[in-house]
Amino acid sequence: MAPDFSSNAFKHLRTGFLPPDPEEHTGELKGSLLHRPRRLRRLPALREMVRETRLSVRQLVYPLFVCPDEKVRAEIPSMPGIFQLSIDEAVRECREVVELGIPAVILFGIPERKDEAGSEGYAEDGIIARALRVLKAEFPDLLLWADVCLCEYTSHGHCGVIRGGEVANDETVRLLAHEALVYAESGADIVAPSDMMDGRVGAIRRLLDETGHTHIPIASYAVKYASAFYGPFRDAAGSTPQFGDRRGYQMDPANTDEALREAALDLQEGADILLVKPALGFLDVLHRVKQAFHVPTAAYNVSGEYAMIHAAARAGWLDHDAVMLEALLSIRRAGADMIITYHARDAARLLRDSTA
Ligand code: PBG
Repeated sequence: MAPDFSSNAFKHLRTGFLPPDPEEHTGELKGSLLHRPRRLRRLPALREMVRETRLSVRQLVYPLFVCPDEKVRAEIPSMPGIFQLSIDEAVRECREVVELGIPAVILFGIPERKDEAGSEGYAEDGIIARALRVLKAEFPDLLLWADVCLCEYTSHGHCGVIRGGEVANDETVRLLAHEALVYAESGADIVAPSDMMDGRVGAIRRLLDETGHTHIPIASYAVKYASAFYGPFRDAAGSTPQFGDRRGYQMDPANTDEALREAALDLQEGADILLVKPALGFLDVLHRVKQAFHVPTAAYNVSGEYAMIHAAARAGWLDHDAVMLEALLSIRRAGADMIITYHARDAARLLRDSTA
């Protein structure tokens, strides 16, 4: 309960810090200050003991872009330190991820071929299905999150099939459910639909349950905005829409009540984890979602947010490590239990020996 600052017990708070009467101004504080918040900030160990929010490597999910062929490690120009990786290289990357103590990765695919229906997304020998089988066998304890969407696999770059110039919702939902099933059968521990079609969480839950995958959780990108901060990701995945934009299915960045409605619907349909995306420009939304539902909540610290910090650091304008940790901590403070972030490896190295 909030303290009653109008009560007598807090009288000194109301009067103690008032500026002295200008006529009597001597440059001195009058009387004794009962409350000095700086007392708890003076010693590092004490600051740590009163710290309200903690950032741990065990809360981070590291995104991987998996591509065909072998021995491919192609850096994404707008995302320094992030690569398109062939499956063998993804294995090497995951070895490091595990050594750093990062508990989870989320996989995105760059297919051999794109087509109108995004069929490599749900083909049993598609890039992600193959990557999941290899990674699960190598790293049984690493949590494999599979992003479920069609935009990386469609020739037009939209998140579903196009009918009459628009993404057809219900037909797309059937394909997405199938994609989630293929990923679950290939070794995904969690499926994460990011398409923003209506009713997809329910359809995925039903199909997974009917096929014996009742134990696979759904991390739903319940609140995903039509954001310009996805630019570098679309370069990495080659998923920029070839016509129009995603505003007909992703949310308007102006809305937050709508975020609560989206989140409520996904929970009703069986979502286990709610995701808010992007993170930094939407901390208010994250906070509202966490406060409203009190369910495990994740935030996606997206490609554009990563690129901005790197660009400013390269120009010598910001301290990379400090700004990165502050950004991640802010996302935690706003309400995220988990953070999907390209910073995961760098953050893990810094967090290993410290208690941020
Ligand atoms: C796929 C998807 C996108 C991102 C995650 N999943 C791209 C999009 O919606 O255009 C963006 C992630 C990022 O920018 O880091 N639908």
